Amino acid sequence: MPTQGHFPTPMYWDQVHGEKFKAIQNELFLTYQKLKFSRKKGWGKDTHYLSEDPFTRDILTDMDCKLFLNFLDKSLNNYLDQIGFQFERKYHITQSWFTKTCKGQYAHRHDHGANDIAGVYYLQTNERDGNIYFQTPLQLLTPNFIYGCINGDQQIQAKEGLIGLWPGVLEHGTYTNTTDHERISISFNIQYER
Ligand SMILES: [Fe+2]
Repeated sequence: MPTQGHFPTPMYWDQVHGEKFKAIQNELFLTYQKLKFSRKKGWGKDTHYLSEDPFTRDILTDMDCKLFLNFLDKSLNNYLDQIGFQFERKYHITQSWFTKTCKGQYAHRHDHGANDIAGVYYLQTNERDGNIYFQTPLQLLTPNFIYGCINGDQQIQAKEGLIGLWPGVLEHGTYTNTTDHERISISFNIQYER
């Protein structure tokens, strides 16, 4: 095709299956059952619930979610391999938290600040309970005719076992959950040493 997309935004999506999926799900559900959820102070009544101290702790490490952390590590390495990063990789999880989204709730559009990578894993979803969407980082160019044709939000369907990784600066949100099903996901931020 003569028309090509340059300056792409690399985003990583992979779904774990089989016995590995069952083991990770079991580990994360056991962790989920130990958590308390509440809405962040100051957020609207129609926003989702978060595990305690969501943006100041790494709950995955604190709760020793070894299987998931191993899956995350492999996913991060795949992501960097696929964008051609060939150097030493030392990282830490700056924050991680669980999110519960009930009927009528959504996540407002936001980014994850200075974190190198932000990500999500879907623990429980009926695949209709509010997809994640991303806004193009080229938003300022939208008044241009060509960018205006291609700069619409991109959404990804939630699926159990799906992990997503993207640059932390990328703005995103979730559509309102219009079903009676509770979506449960885990979010995390990654920072590399350099
Ligand atoms: Fe987010």
